[in-house]
Amino acid sequence: MKQQCINYSQCWEDSDVLLKALSLKSGDTVLSITSGGDNSLAILSGPIKKLTVVDMHSCQNYLMELKLIAARKLSYEEFLAFVGVTPASNRIYIFRRLRKSISSEAFDWWSNNEHLIEMGIIHCGRFEKYLTLFSKYILPFIHSKKVIVNFLAAKSVNEQYRFYLKSWNSFRWKTYFRIASSKFLLRKFARQDGMFGSIKVENIAKVYLLRLEKKLKTKLISSNYFIYYCLTGGFGTDLPFYLREQNVAKYIRKRKVVYISSTLLQYLQKVPSNTFSKYNLSDIFEALPEDKVAPTWREIVRTAKKNATVVYWDNLRKSEPPADVQDYKSFSKELYIMERAFFYGGVHVCEILK
Ligand SMILES: C[S@@+](CC[C@H](N)C(=O)[O-])C[C@H]1O[C@@H](n2cnc3c(N)ncnc32)[C@H](O)[C@@H]1O
Repeated sequence: MKQQCINYSQCWEDSDVLLKALSLKSGDTVLSITSGGDNSLAILSGPIKKLTVVDMHSCQNYLMELKLIAARKLSYEEFLAFVGVTPASNRIYIFRRLRKSISSEAFDWWSNNEHLIEMGIIHCGRFEKYLTLFSKYILPFIHSKKVIVNFLAAKSVNEQYRFYLKSWNSFRWKTYFRIASSKFLLRKFARQDGMFGSIKVENIAKVYLLRLEKKLKTKLISSNYFIYYCLTGGFGTDLPFYLREQNVAKYIRKRKVVYISSTLLQYLQKVPSNTFSKYNLSDIFEALPEDKVAPTWREIVRTAKKNATVVYWDNLRKSEPPADVQDYKSFSKELYIMERAFFYGGVHVCEILK
């Protein structure tokens, strides 16, 4: 399926949670939803045999390919600047230098979208542009620079939450958070088309605000790059797993990635039984039409090796696995508490019983 717009230029599920859930072993054959590529690159750093990434939108695969090639070919400092973590004025020049290493489809797509490279590819998604709009234009209208800096600088979660209650949780903050997290605006400008098709939650902003407050009570923003990015449009000292120098060194040399542009169901229907030992499914059940949920699970079970692990997230729609898939509820709950992105309603770590 071709599209011109990258929906997600980053992954909004915590890689550290994913890696703990998957517990990768040598010999693992992994299927991962591509999305922004970050979590699939994190998987690639593990001791695996083969990684297949699947996304219904081909440009998400082109994004991951470009991130991987840039990590391989550039110095670490150049890599951070090229993707947009640090400033750079020569990103198009660097991209053209990478030409020989990128597939011709990915190179053609990016050549037609060089303006996205110029802004830094980690910021070019529809969702990330929406967040940047919030941090750049809305937040300064809610809070002064001093208040924002003090909030980010809290040294303990107690101090952080006290500051939130006393100086952050103002009428303006609540009002603008409510507007920015409304179903109407999220559907129109932020999240992937279809994400709200079967969501029953009416007051999304209320749910998200409660989830955010819960995270603020337990996780420092300075070590939570998800919330840090939402408030500043960039990263502080805490970086996503795939951008940390020691992890780049682990995935750059591995060449075992197969890119598939297809819906998961259509792809799995062509895959032999007993192929994959681990699945990272992001929160795809959220956007899956009701009549595709059971067939997708059937194909996951058929293509899974004995005792394979499946990890997925719930956002606003609770998705239970079928009877032949066991959800390890207490481990899932432990990982949900560890998760740093605040949007989610649950994490599921499941085993395929066969
Ligand atoms: C599921 S979305 C979610 C991202 C983020 N967690 C959120 O909640 O907004 C992540 C990626 O999954 C892809 N995707 C969604 N449903 C899919 C499906 N059925 N098959 C293949 N890819 C899918 C999208 O194109 C997108 O790049």
